[in-house]
Amino acid sequence: MSNPREAELIHMFKGIAFTTRSSPELLKSLDTFDAREDDVLLVSYPKSGTHWLAGVITKLYKTQVTLTTPIEFGDISKLEELNKVPSKRIIPTHLDYNMLPSNFKNKKCKMIYISRNPKDTAVSMYHYYRDNPNLPTIDTWTVFFDLFLKGDVVCGSWFDHFLSWEEHANDKNILFLFYEDMKKDLPNIVKEISLFLGLNVSDNDVQDVCNKSSFSEMKSDTEKINSDPSHTVCALTSNRKLIFRKGAVGDWKNHFTPKQNRRFEEIFNEKMKLSKM
Ligand code: A3P
Repeated sequence: MSNPREAELIHMFKGIAFTTRSSPELLKSLDTFDAREDDVLLVSYPKSGTHWLAGVITKLYKTQVTLTTPIEFGDISKLEELNKVPSKRIIPTHLDYNMLPSNFKNKKCKMIYISRNPKDTAVSMYHYYRDNPNLPTIDTWTVFFDLFLKGDVVCGSWFDHFLSWEEHANDKNILFLFYEDMKKDLPNIVKEISLFLGLNVSDNDVQDVCNKSSFSEMKSDTEKINSDPSHTVCALTSNRKLIFRKGAVGDWKNHFTPKQNRRFEEIFNEKMKLSKM
């Protein structure tokens, strides 16, 4: 962080960095949140494809659903605000499993976790840091690479986030998805999501959802509308135009040096040795 004003953009809560767009009071009171049994949570570490997944899910419903802003975004009035939103609510969050309001766990709400190759996630996040005025300035990729590996970035360590959710990957109310699978075979993933959500969708509907959820469609939709806070599912920005950058798999190869790649793999293998994925 290069200057004191920038330091004010970030605060720590339970050892994890949050921007001041998530007030400490809200974070402290999250556990009092009144979840509803039919809430659907859309969970991710930042830059994993949250908006893409949100686009798919909202298009699948034929009934009225509300995609809310992330649960950890805002001040203490947030809980009240979400209380007023009629069912069904689709609620995004970047919280790790341990920080998730316990009501969602007790009521066994459906949760969809989307993950992405952490190398691509790191690159995507690096560009996001550079473009997003709500995040501290990062001068070079080399600097960001170290911060990412240390977990010294917003939402904390990718590894801790992933592992906290992976422990629950086999819970019946949790669906685990990968960005790369969506890129490879979106219709198949759309069918999997519909099944999980108990929605009856035809093959034509699936195709329609896929067409409307392509990177180019979503990017040009965003360019047509003015930025509106209710249109972002990331607690770190209200500007959708910052979201749709490249939408590719493997962009890390354009950024990682061979040495960085070796270091990443060493740390990955160490941290993920207990992972089943
Ligand atoms: P890149 O920065 O690599 O392009 P999130 O929504 O969690 O913030 O994730 C943003 C990332 O998902 C960005 O990655 C963005 O381009 C990508 N993305 C968004 N919509 C997409 C789509 N329809 N298809 C593929 N990738 C998409």
